[in-house]
Amino acid sequence: MDLLVLEQVRKHYGSQQVLRGIDLAVAEHHVTCLIGASGSGKSTLLRCINLLETVDDGVIWLDGRDISDPRVDADEVRRRVGMVFQAFNLFPHRSVLDNVTLGPQRSLKQSTSVAEATALELLDRFGLADKASAYPDSLSGGQQQRVAVVRAIAMAPRLLLLDEITSALDPLLVAEVLDVIAELKREGMTILMATHEMHFAQEVADRVVFIDNGQVVEQGPAADVLDHPRDERTVRFLTRHLGR
Ligand SMILES: Nc1ncnc2c1ncn2[C@@H]1O[C@H](COP(=O)(O)OP(=O)(O)O)[C@@H](O)[C@H]1O
Ligand SMILES: [Mg+2]
Repeated sequence: MDLLVLEQVRKHYGSQQVLRGIDLAVAEHHVTCLIGASGSGKSTLLRCINLLETVDDGVIWLDGRDISDPRVDADEVRRRVGMVFQAFNLFPHRSVLDNVTLGPQRSLKQSTSVAEATALELLDRFGLADKASAYPDSLSGGQQQRVAVVRAIAMAPRLLLLDEITSALDPLLVAEVLDVIAELKREGMTILMATHEMHFAQEVADRVVFIDNGQVVEQGPAADVLDHPRDERTVRFLTRHLGR
């Protein structure tokens, strides 16, 4: 079943058309990788799905409901759609544990004990148990980004959006964050992620969507798009990014 469906989504900033009629479907339990050059509209697309931006035209369906309707409660949608950004957005003056429990306590009205038990279990599962009382600036970039992912999934979202979450990391730290994503896939999380990690996409993605200049040029099973691209623009992009 498709958890998320976009139909002819359009968005402009001033005179610039950034999204030019995006059609996209994300199946439940799938990892879908959005690839495309810088400036092609990947972040804008993810921000529209999380209602951080409003669309000009088109419809976004989540779980069969039109979330692009302006009457929709954006906070309610964001409780079901987790998002992690490129820059680490942890609260610097809060411990790792507090970073993870704040959302569930405030938005989901969980008790402190329930939120902390869940947080500690998640931190443990992702190798961060010994960091619960640490402050973000004492962690490596990879650890901070893993905490950011744990914080997002502590809300038990239906859909997880990841916006180039490894691109600010030292290459040595990228793998530990990608491992977390692979683990979430094994657990059945539905993930839509913008990434430059083509080899990760090859290994883990179910579907790949190539965006160029605000349009979906090509989408399909990862092996089809990455190994047998049909459009010349996809071929050129992959030649540059897969080094072949
Ligand atoms: N808030 C904004 N205001 C004006 N232009 C923006 C804004 N956000 C993004 N853009 C422009 O939209 C285009 C797509 O940007 P973005 O979605 O960030 O692409 P990507 O994530 O693929 O690099 C770029 O030309 C960018 O400059
Ligand atoms: Mg971006």
